[in-house]
Amino acid sequence: MANQDDFFKKVVAHAKEYGFIFPSSEIYDGLAAVYDYGQLGVELKNNIKQYWWRSMVQMHENIVGLDSAIFMHPRIWKASGHVDAFNDPLIDNKDSKKRYRADVLIDDHIAKIEEKVEKEVEKARKRFGEAFDEAQFRSTNQRVLDHQAQIDSIRERYASLMNDSDLAGLKQLILDLGIVCPISGTRNWTDVRQFNLMFATKMGSVIDDSDTLYLRPETAQGIFVNFLNVQKSGRMKIPFGIAQIGKAFRNEIVARQFIFRMREFEQMEMQFFVRPGTELDWFRHWKEERLQWHLALGIPADCYRYHDHEKLAHYANAATDIEFRFPFGFKELEGIHSRTDFDLSRHSEFSGKKLQYFDSELGESYTPYVIETSIGVDRTFLAIFSHSLREETLEDGSVRTVLGLPAMLAPYKAAVLPLVKKDGLPEKAREVQHMLMRDMMVQYDEKDAIGRRYRRQDAIGTPFCVTVDSDTLADGAVTVRHRDSMQQERVAVDSLRQYLMERL
Ligand code: GAP
Repeated sequence: MANQDDFFKKVVAHAKEYGFIFPSSEIYDGLAAVYDYGQLGVELKNNIKQYWWRSMVQMHENIVGLDSAIFMHPRIWKASGHVDAFNDPLIDNKDSKKRYRADVLIDDHIAKIEEKVEKEVEKARKRFGEAFDEAQFRSTNQRVLDHQAQIDSIRERYASLMNDSDLAGLKQLILDLGIVCPISGTRNWTDVRQFNLMFATKMGSVIDDSDTLYLRPETAQGIFVNFLNVQKSGRMKIPFGIAQIGKAFRNEIVARQFIFRMREFEQMEMQFFVRPGTELDWFRHWKEERLQWHLALGIPADCYRYHDHEKLAHYANAATDIEFRFPFGFKELEGIHSRTDFDLSRHSEFSGKKLQYFDSELGESYTPYVIETSIGVDRTFLAIFSHSLREETLEDGSVRTVLGLPAMLAPYKAAVLPLVKKDGLPEKAREVQHMLMRDMMVQYDEKDAIGRRYRRQDAIGTPFCVTVDSDTLADGAVTVRHRDSMQQERVAVDSLRQYLMERL
């Protein structure tokens, strides 16, 4: 597939064509940065959530789940700092009248320099062939070192400006870097202003008298305010975690990159409560464990990297992102933060309720420290979906499109296909379908030639096609075709269920 932009367009088009993701309210011309998951998208999304829930809640006896409401008391967002500080720095281009996030303009500028580094590395790889030592090249090549120094210096200046909320300095950085508006091509920028990302609404029948509520911008606060409820009713002993999957809402200014940055999205978050002083050990533990969760999907390790934060938020004492190589470059997929006792202490202060834990081993009460793991469902979907989509040229010169999803996440695990629509084959195929559908999602398809039906299943990621032919009626066996290798083998109908379950 030609280049990254073309490939990304292909991802978006494929997601729509096959019923994975549709623009929201499409017949009314859509709603920016809001998307609907179609018949196959909802299956893949549910499977991702189930994979996370199983590995976090089911596989850890000291982690329990929660489903807190989206509406919460407005003081929660005051205590958490979101009312005062959940802002993005905005800048407008006076010629195009387009609005941008100042930090995203700078990130994009850095990404362009990173691209130059990658091009140097690729050039050298081709030149040196087998003998190429990438690590040595990166640490000694002068052009790479110069680019890296440039990136480091921009990052450092940017972090310090953000830390000081220096909006004038941020504008100056954009001017100094020569960043132009992608639409007008000019540097005619307004000043940078702060913009709060929370959606506000009203609760109550009399609008004028009612309280302003916020749609939650993260699920985490629902966990913090239920800390005592869960700890006491579940008799939880520290260290323990509370996990939650749910919708979050942010009035994102830069709405682009498909489901990467949405205004309504879903998060999978876990807050792990630990004894003060042990938090950095637990931070390292979760940093490693979360990366293993991603790698267990079978996606190559070089698609992931850590981005440790050098400048930390005032409440954090360690933070890292797990970044993924999306079609538009490496970007954040998951955040792991050591949040100290900030959130519980703030909620204690604002609610007047003591959110503490009595540690019977130490014989004392304290406010627990927290390690947070926070990952977007939609970003995970995009990472897996875009990584899985490929085009293969076959021996006969034809091209097949394959969505090579990890089998356990695929919407349909198997498709049952009668070779022809007569001679009792559809009836037999229906029998096989009904046998399998208790244990897995199965699709039945009898329309078109068998080759076209295989292609359709390849394109939606079905790992196995089960073909019922005239021999099936005689020998009680079916042909199982594997999506990735296209290898076929005969399997007895009686052992088909077990055969598939073992491979899923
Ligand atoms: N409680 C911590 C928290 O919310 P965050 O880095 O703002 O941290 C965590 O968000 C994750 O949620 C991100 O790593 C990303 O995967 C996802 N996420 C955040 N904003 C998003 C958006 N506008 N659209 C889609 N996913 C988003």
